[in-house]
Amino acid sequence: MDFTVRPMKTSDIPDVFAIDKASATLYWPERSYHFEVEKNDASRPFVAVGSDGEILGFIVFWLIIDEAHLANFAVSEPARCRGIGRALLMQGLKTCYSGGARISFLEVRAGNAPALHLYESCGYHTESIRKQYYQDNHEDALLMNLDPEDYEKLMKEETI
Ligand SMILES: CC(C)(COP(=O)(O)OP(=O)(O)OC[C@H]1O[C@@H](n2cnc3c(N)ncnc32)[C@H](O)[C@@H]1OP(=O)(O)O)[C@@H](O)C(=O)NCCC(=O)NCCS
Repeated sequence: MDFTVRPMKTSDIPDVFAIDKASATLYWPERSYHFEVEKNDASRPFVAVGSDGEILGFIVFWLIIDEAHLANFAVSEPARCRGIGRALLMQGLKTCYSGGARISFLEVRAGNAPALHLYESCGYHTESIRKQYYQDNHEDALLMNLDPEDYEKLMKEETI
């Protein structure tokens, strides 16, 4: 599928919100995206856009000194398994690395196999487990890290 990845704009927010709402039980309110795009200096939000201009997915990283926190991430269901998620993740990680990040953190549901596969294939590993963390179904949360040596290796290996 033909797509490009670029920084998220205010005009993307209704489509981004719709993808988040369709993808997650505990989705962000629309105003959170306005804060990320318009106010949060630490935010590095990106969208994937199809050749027809359709928003296909998004990712939000927070760059906090030398840490890249993956805050939110989804690809619209019909567009999944075509490399869009990987491209968004790499764009976020590369941008944060250029800004000084040397380690990355995220949190994922223990049963989210597609996301877990993607994160592990990029070098993230499970650092700890928060038992019954999610309020909707009491699923465990895995706290995953991309350690400095794995982050650096990924940046050297991958090209966008
Ligand atoms: C996780 C998600 C963003 C992945 O997006 P995607 O565009 O489908 O991912 P990609 O096509 O780039 O796949 C990348 C890798 O993910 C893994 N993957 C993707 N879908 C998978 C599936 N259904 N089962 C197992 N692994 C899968 C594979 O390892 C794949 O590697 P490959 O490129 O070698 O095949 C997408 O499934 C999604 O939006 N899920 C719902 C929201 C969500 O879970 N967000 C993450 C919250 S932490």
